[in-house]
This record gives sequence, structure tokens and C-alpha cells, in this order.
Amino acid sequence: MVDNSSFSGQTYLVTGGAGFIGSHTVRHLLDRGASVVAVDEFNDFYDPAIKEQNIQAFETHPNFSLYRVDIRDQQALAEVFSRHGEALKAGGIIHLAARAGVRPSLMEPRLYLETNVTGTLNLMEQAREHGIQKFVFASSSSVYGSSPDQVPFKEDQDISKPISPYASTKVMGENLLHTYSHLYGLQVVCLRFFTVYGPGQRPDLAIHKFTRMIDEGEPIPVFGDGTTERDYTYIDDIMQGVMAAIAYDATPFQVVNLGESQTTTLARLIELIENAVGKKAIINRQPLQPGDVPITYADITRARSVLNYHPSTKVEEGIPKFVDWYMTYKKRIPTCGLAC
Ligand SMILES: NC(=O)c1ccc[n+]([C@@H]2O[C@H](COP(=O)([O-])OP(=O)(O)OC[C@H]3O[C@@H](n4cnc5c(N)ncnc54)[C@H](O)[C@@H]3O)[C@@H](O)[C@H]2O)c1
Repeated sequence: MVDNSSFSGQTYLVTGGAGFIGSHTVRHLLDRGASVVAVDEFNDFYDPAIKEQNIQAFETHPNFSLYRVDIRDQQALAEVFSRHGEALKAGGIIHLAARAGVRPSLMEPRLYLETNVTGTLNLMEQAREHGIQKFVFASSSSVYGSSPDQVPFKEDQDISKPISPYASTKVMGENLLHTYSHLYGLQVVCLRFFTVYGPGQRPDLAIHKFTRMIDEGEPIPVFGDGTTERDYTYIDDIMQGVMAAIAYDATPFQVVNLGESQTTTLARLIELIENAVGKKAIINRQPLQPGDVPITYADITRARSVLNYHPSTKVEEGIPKFVDWYMTYKKRIPTCGLAC
């Protein structure tokens, strides 16, 4: 069990703090009495107004500071660390900023590499320079590539064959962190997130996108025959794992799957959303997309044992919760998504 009082009075840098998982992380840390330095560039991968909304509640919080900084910009990062580096020594870095998404990474591989790899290296360098030890990294289930015969995915299986630029950047991020942990004693936890959803979920991700489109009577693009499977993880469960990873210090380098350890087919997912929205989906069937994997499925034995992680929200419960959130907030949610 994580001792919540251990966060109180500590300072943490949360990169991507205005994003979906980042803003939940900020809230959880502030609620536990920590100070948070958030770094986010508010890019237009999806409507930045959503990110502004995500952080609105924190902006007047006395323990919250925000830097609108690009992690690729070494100079701007150095200024943030020159101000907060000392305080971060006892706390640490929770690095969630990234270009996310498999399909868009095929269009802009260089941007993904520069943000997800060089940006991560820039943060590691700042950590080294300022003697900051704790580094939690948002990795991804996509590192496992296309190996349906090897499910559920275990942390120690081969990840040398990623099948999208996005997945490759996450493998590279993990590898670089291992090197810095070995050379400089950086205390690293790489969290391999399995499709995260819940209030505030990115509008480009299937659950959010389908909910909006079904609600608005638009046809939904369905890639493949609906048999692809995903391990969907509710944000509250992910937060359990993130907080435990921040508190974790048993080994200098650790990699942990954070999933629900239950798979749901795309067809079943659509059915759950239809039931929660109360409308039938209009299906626009399309071929499977390059870079997509047929299945993600987490073995969470290690997460249970090293992080005391016990996810409890099944999709049957989580989807209606997400749709409730969507219905309440949809008037405030800009819907231009990826097109903005
Ligand atoms: N959501 C998921 O299902 C999922 C699954 C696996 C891994 N992840 C990883 O978790 C992390 C958070 O994902 P999310 O779903 O919250 O995404 P998100 O896009 O909502 O959050 C990422 C944030 O990082 C910021 N950012 C991007 N590039 C930046 C840069 N160069 N400088 C500063 N800020 C920058 C963005 O503006 C955004 O606010 C990412 O690293 C993602 O790859 C997410």
C-alpha cells in the first residue's frame, strides 16, 4: 500500500501535465499535498482548448506552477530546472509528455522521434545535472509489437521488433533510461500503459471518438472485422499504478505493465458504447491499418507484486462511467480533435 503522506511536501515535475493522463496525475499529487511543476507545450495534436480545460482547476492552486515549454527546447527546459531543480531532488520527474498515437506516427516519424526520444533525453540530462533521482516514464503496450501468440504480454519478453514509429520511440526511451540508470544511478520506473480511458480521455482515441460519433449520429470508422482486442484500462486504476511507481524505490530500474488484464474485442466495445449512449452505431468498415496490432493484453503479475497494483474497473463499468462524463461535459468539449 502506498503511504500517501510520503508525497506531502515533495515537488514533482509532470511533463505533459495538461494532457489526459498528465492532468489526472497533477490532481492526484496536489490532493496528496505535493507541489507540482507542470511542463506542457499545448500542441495541437488535438484541440489545445481541451488541455486548457484540463488544468483550469489547478491554475490558482498555491502548489502548482505551469511552464508552457517544449521538451525539445533545451534552453527553456534548463530554465525550468534552474528554478526547481533543487526542490525536485527529493521528489522527481513524471515524464508523460509525448507525441502519442500509433497511426499519426506513420505520417510524422521525425516529430515523434524528436519529441519522444530527444525530448526524453533532454529531461534525463537535466535530471543528471541537478542530481534528481526519481524518473517515472510513460511507456506503452505498443512496444510488444505484433505477437498475438505471446499474450498476455510479460515485461521480460522481446521488445526488439516494434511495428510503428511511435512504438519504436517508446522502446528507445526505455533503453536510454536504462543506460542513465546504469551510468548515473537514475531511479527509473517505465510504465507500459495499456489503452487508458476515463474522464478527459484524448478525443483521438476510439472510446472517446466513437462515443461522440454515435451520439451525433455519424458513421464510425471500424478498422478490420471487429475481432481486434484491446486491454482497456480505467484512469483511476492507472493512477493507482502511477502513484505507486513514484513511491517505488526497491530497484534502480523497473519496467511494469499497467493494464486491466482483460481483453475486449472492438465489436464488444462498440456494443458497450451503444448501450451506454442509447443509440446504435453506423459502421463504416475499413481495412486494418498498418502499425495496428491485433491484440494487447497485459500480464500484471509484476505490477501486483512490486506496485501492489489491483485494477478494479472492468469495461462493463468503465464505459458507462466514461459516457456519463462525456454527456455532462460535451457542451464544453471542442470536437475538432485531430483536425485542429
Ligand atoms: N492514453 C493512452 O492510452 C496511452 C497508452 C500508452 C501510453 N501512453 C503514453 O502516456 C503519456 C500520456 O498520454 P495521454 O493519453 O495523456 O496523451 P496527451 O496527448 O493527452 O498528453 C500528452 C501531453 O504532452 C504534451 N506534449 C507533447 N509534446 C510535447 C513537447 N514537445 N513538449 C511539452 N509537452 C508536450 C501535449 O501537449 C499533451 O498535453 C504519453 O507519453 C503516451 O505516449 C498513453
